[in-house]
Amino acid sequence: MLVSGTGSILQALMDACADPGYGARIVAVGADRTGTGGVARAEAAGIPTFVRRLKDSPERFAWDRMLTSECAAFEPDLVIMAGFLKLVGADFLRQFDGRIVNTHPALLPSFPGLHSVRDALRHGVKVTGCSVILVDAGVDSGPILAQESVPVLDTDDEATLHERIKVAERTLVVDTVGRMVRDGWSVQERRARIGASAGRARW
Ligand code: GRF
Repeated sequence: MLVSGTGSILQALMDACADPGYGARIVAVGADRTGTGGVARAEAAGIPTFVRRLKDSPERFAWDRMLTSECAAFEPDLVIMAGFLKLVGADFLRQFDGRIVNTHPALLPSFPGLHSVRDALRHGVKVTGCSVILVDAGVDSGPILAQESVPVLDTDDEATLHERIKVAERTLVVDTVGRMVRDGWSVQERRARIGASAGRARW
């Protein structure tokens, strides 16, 4: 898993993985910065961690290459980005093609990018939510695996709305990743399907 922040979604997945019936195990947690709550949570749980900061690499592609080999060393079946605030590059996409999952705090394709909660609030939408997607070369543009809606309240500010979205996001990520590992998934054009109707299990 890759994180940049407090790691509450990571925690939800760690809790889910404690049940053998869930069908997945977190092999490592990586971050793009030091001092993240996510890495601290992983260390406390005895999960291997690594930090790869962009500013320690001379070029972005060099950082991407290092991140790719660090992740690949753990031989993950899936790479889950939960609040990972960097775009990965060509090496990473090639290595984990079709197996990178990201979660985003908006109903894509509305409000992609880093400030999606603020953008949704400023736009005045009455319903927003979260999306779990497969990562492609664009910004939050990959096939959508699952979405959940969250109402916007008149009293919301960015922090309260994001907190409420994250409650939905934690459940959605745990549910979606669990179904993917247990039942497989497929993608035809832009349409991602999980489960028996997926036709071609990747697991
Ligand atoms: C989530 O809302 C994620 O979609 C966004 O950052 C948040 C991560 O929260 N990019 P946490 O670090 O898992 O608590």
